[in-house]
Amino acid sequence: MAAVPEPSPLPPVPLVDLQKQMAAIGETIQHRMAAVLSGGDFILGGAVGALETRLASYAGVGHAIAVANGTDALQIALMAMGVGRGDAVFVPAFTFAATAGAVVLAGATPVFIDIDDTTLTMDPQHLEDAIEAVRKAGKLTPRAVVPVDLFGRPADYPAIHALAQTAGLQVLADAAQSFGAMQGSGPAARPVGSLAPITTVSFYPSKPLGCFGDGGAILTDDPALAQHCRRLRGHGFDASGEAREVGMNSRLDSLQAAVLLAKLDVFDRELEARAQAAAWYEARLRGHLRTPAGPPDGRSAWAVYCVRAAQRDQLREALRAAGIASAIYYAKPLHLHAAYAAYGDGAGSLPVSERASAEAVALPMHGYLDEPTVTRVCDTVIGALQA
Ligand SMILES: Cc1ncc(COP(=O)(O)O)c(C=O)c1O
Repeated sequence: MAAVPEPSPLPPVPLVDLQKQMAAIGETIQHRMAAVLSGGDFILGGAVGALETRLASYAGVGHAIAVANGTDALQIALMAMGVGRGDAVFVPAFTFAATAGAVVLAGATPVFIDIDDTTLTMDPQHLEDAIEAVRKAGKLTPRAVVPVDLFGRPADYPAIHALAQTAGLQVLADAAQSFGAMQGSGPAARPVGSLAPITTVSFYPSKPLGCFGDGGAILTDDPALAQHCRRLRGHGFDASGEAREVGMNSRLDSLQAAVLLAKLDVFDRELEARAQAAAWYEARLRGHLRTPAGPPDGRSAWAVYCVRAAQRDQLREALRAAGIASAIYYAKPLHLHAAYAAYGDGAGSLPVSERASAEAVALPMHGYLDEPTVTRVCDTVIGALQA
């Protein structure tokens, strides 16, 4: 029988350390929450309006519409874009279920696209092939593409926009994991939110900008699209109180907005700390296993730090024994899940996504990691690979 490893005498290392963040900014958060409690406007109150202004300005767009979560944000955006029955919407296979789920809930059909092996985001070459295949099959109208900024790295928007323009597709950016990231650098740098005509984000607690529950937002520079999303967020009511169409009930509450406003004050500092942690990981792990590629030009939000390891289970067991958390994103690509199998071509059809699902493992990543902790994680990883 294999020996049971001794528990680590060192403190546990969580994947995301929200307690460290609370120790740093908890007082400001509580102060802002107390203001909401005494003001009493709990739903879409003043704090939500202030948050929307701040988000839009951060992303360099004219409008932000705060909603209940990132999944609703996707669905509302698709509805506002007019996507529905008979439409093909191209989504990566290696993403969270919400990306494709929102397409189905909007009444359209997801078409799964493989990812690039280095960036883990949508492969533009495969997108081009899939648009052509849908056209040839003649059953669905190619209508939209939803690139996902996986793990915080912006997708290949220049290539995707070029293909979308040729094919007449609308582009909706699923930036659930990448608010705060940038494409390009210097004067050409553009923030996530302004990389597509419409973008959705999630404020789930573990996201780089996370609240204390569920939250999300839609970002756009298009006033008509913004107004439509705002209407769809609240049952389809227009300003006169007439229900113009059937909408959703997807409101952000003021307490979550208060949390996010406080966290935005330290957001840039936390993004820099994430990038620093990624650089420490890269320096120590390079040559030992496949490390994630940051964008050559621009910045990732480093929502998740995923390495690739063929011996993933062995690695995770060594981390667990050392008191270090790890996670698998995503154990299966979407075309192999029961709910989405009917939209795909089964095992073997999207090999890069399937391999990433078998190899990717996330190591601790957040805005409060210090170098000794990263070193401890790396030493454990390297020790497991050499065992
Ligand atoms: C890529 C992606 N899209 C959409 C979502 C959905 O966001 P939410 O959990 O806020 O509904 C997530 C959340 O993890 C995500 O990672």
